[in-house]
Amino acid sequence: MQPVLKEQIETPALLIDLDILERNIQIMAEFMKNKNAKLRPHFKTHKCPTIAHKQISKGAKGITCAKLGEAEILAAAGIKDILIANEIVEPSKVFRLAGIAHSDAKITVAVDNAENIADLSRAASIIGSTIYVLVEVDIGMRRCGVTTPNEVVHLVKKIINSEGLVFEGLQAYEGHLVYKTDFNERYHEVQEIADKLGEIRAVLTQNGVSVNEISGGGTGTYNITGNNTIWTEIQAGSYVFMDTVYNKLGLDFQDSLTILATVIHKHSGYAITDAGFKVCSVEQGQPQIKDYPDLRIEELNEEHGKIIDEKNELQYRQKIEYVPSHCCGTVNLYDKYYCVRNGLLETVWPVSARGKSQ
Ligand SMILES: Cc1ncc(COP(=O)(O)O)c(C=O)c1O
Repeated sequence: MQPVLKEQIETPALLIDLDILERNIQIMAEFMKNKNAKLRPHFKTHKCPTIAHKQISKGAKGITCAKLGEAEILAAAGIKDILIANEIVEPSKVFRLAGIAHSDAKITVAVDNAENIADLSRAASIIGSTIYVLVEVDIGMRRCGVTTPNEVVHLVKKIINSEGLVFEGLQAYEGHLVYKTDFNERYHEVQEIADKLGEIRAVLTQNGVSVNEISGGGTGTYNITGNNTIWTEIQAGSYVFMDTVYNKLGLDFQDSLTILATVIHKHSGYAITDAGFKVCSVEQGQPQIKDYPDLRIEELNEEHGKIIDEKNELQYRQKIEYVPSHCCGTVNLYDKYYCVRNGLLETVWPVSARGKSQ
């Protein structure tokens, strides 16, 4: 009996290089050690409780997620401190949220309007649970969140006076900055946001309210937001896998996530693979091919990849690996990871929260 070689895995398949994954988790854990902020990595990237537990075992305080369905998977997997960094507003979902909070997990959610606060309080009171709440501040992304200190104070007072709710702090994610390739630009814009958040915190303190947490930060800014600024939690997600877009920032993390594909047709000057956009997210651009800098993916169709291969480096039935442009979008296309170490298949992990968008 022989171990399974990476090249023997049927394609298309989503691969994790375990050595690189573990190194990425370790590098982030080392950076965050002894910092004011704690790591609360984002689950949307890997959607895999096994990886969440690895992050926690290396010092992460809890896990961030975007969706209620993800929070349910995390709670069922025994994660005890879960932040949904997003607004949950549909009445049935508000009750589901209050239901998870009834378990032994601490559940925190973002809010940005008074009606939602009233709904959360009602659901928590009826279910008999406690929901921790962050007021989301729009710090330039123009997504959810309120913008002025007065609006924040107004919502915080409502939370404090609401049965079943505990005001925990602010949700402040600088998503409009995380992909900026110029470090100085990222650095200065993050500092400006930190000043703005400092003003909001000062106004709350003047009103007798203490702010326990200021949560935000991504892979592109962790070494700024996480470096003893005003943020107390860093929500970085992509650092575990990386992708071609984040690679442009020159961070310390390496690509641990690839898509294994087979060349199913070879023609002079180009090759066709069995991996199209149904197995590789392209909303941030075409993937690159690992170890072949001269090859270029011209396009991905539904089930085919067309690779320009002017030097005819590829051969019929050869297995190659794509590095996706967006790791998070790609993972959601798969049910499982094939986890490889030193070229051998070691284990298979489920993408348990795949498609858990409700
Ligand atoms: C709320 C929130 N926090 C943090 C992140 C950071 O994720 P990443 O590290 O993958 O950029 C995201 C990314 O979408 C996000 O939406």
